[in-house]
Amino acid sequence: MKSSSAALIHAFESVARGDLSVRIDEECEAPGLARAFNAMIASIGEREYRQTESAKEQIFQSEKLASIGRLASGIAHELNNPLTGILAYSSMMLEGMKDTQYAEDIKIIIDETIRCRDIVRGLLDFSRETHPELRPANLNHLITETLSILEKTHSLSNVVVEKILDDKIPAAGMDTNQMKSVINNLVLNAVDAMPFGGTIKIRTGIDKKAGKIFMEVEDNGSGIKKENIGLIFDPFFTSKDMGKGTGLGLFVTYNTVERHGGAIKVQSEEGVGTTFTVELPIK
Ligand SMILES: Nc1ncnc2c1ncn2[C@@H]1O[C@H](COP(=O)(O)OP(=O)(O)OP(=O)(O)O)[C@@H](O)[C@H]1O
Ligand SMILES: [Mg+2]
Repeated sequence: MKSSSAALIHAFESVARGDLSVRIDEECEAPGLARAFNAMIASIGEREYRQTESAKEQIFQSEKLASIGRLASGIAHELNNPLTGILAYSSMMLEGMKDTQYAEDIKIIIDETIRCRDIVRGLLDFSRETHPELRPANLNHLITETLSILEKTHSLSNVVVEKILDDKIPAAGMDTNQMKSVINNLVLNAVDAMPFGGTIKIRTGIDKKAGKIFMEVEDNGSGIKKENIGLIFDPFFTSKDMGKGTGLGLFVTYNTVERHGGAIKVQSEEGVGTTFTVELPIK
């Protein structure tokens, strides 16, 4: 049997080389120390495994979104011209048939075509890969501004919005328009998830060690079905009724946050609620 100090030195050297499978015989002269060492290495190994798995998952998710995004914007590009044609001809038809029984039907064609065109435009704007113009801005101010606009333009009377903003968060490089639309999307999704009312908590804070600020948007609404969690950031994934959602909100949000060098995560439980966390680098 090696002396405990020789075993310890050997074990430390192995860990330094990156070998986390090393263990010390707990029947040695210092069993307490050996047990503590083994437990420590086991927990480091477990944490490392979890971090690698989550990094792999993030890479997979962003590669998947990049390729679906390219496909979707390619289709949008192709659809743009025929839609413009349908809109031009149906508008001309309406002019000529204003006083006929067909006028109402043609109006529906025009309205629905406009809706398609708006979706296509949204995708095209997005695919132009406009790089965000990053300027130092205060996330708390953007949240307050966005909420006050939302209160005027949407019915939020059903929900209580609680702001728990850390006034010590430093400015971060942000494209203010794009970041406001991130806040907008997350808050409106939370509102939609609570048709019978509820509470939205918007928290900000700083993780100094990681050099990040974060924003959490928490609701106590419907939650997201387990099988849908992996799909919510995909373009056109929506669980809302026809005409209610395009399924582009979170897709655009994900990409905006990523272009800011940040990350977005979701935690959700069906029937309990959902929390989205956006992290942004301070520099
Ligand atoms: N806070 C939330 N609670 C429950 N489900 C959510 C929440 N946020 C997003 N979802 C789910 O994710 C789906 C996708 O959201 P996303 O914002 O991309 O599209 P949408 O809200 O359906 O349409 P829109 O393009 O108009 O935003 C939603 O349809 C809903 O099923
Ligand atoms: Mg949405």
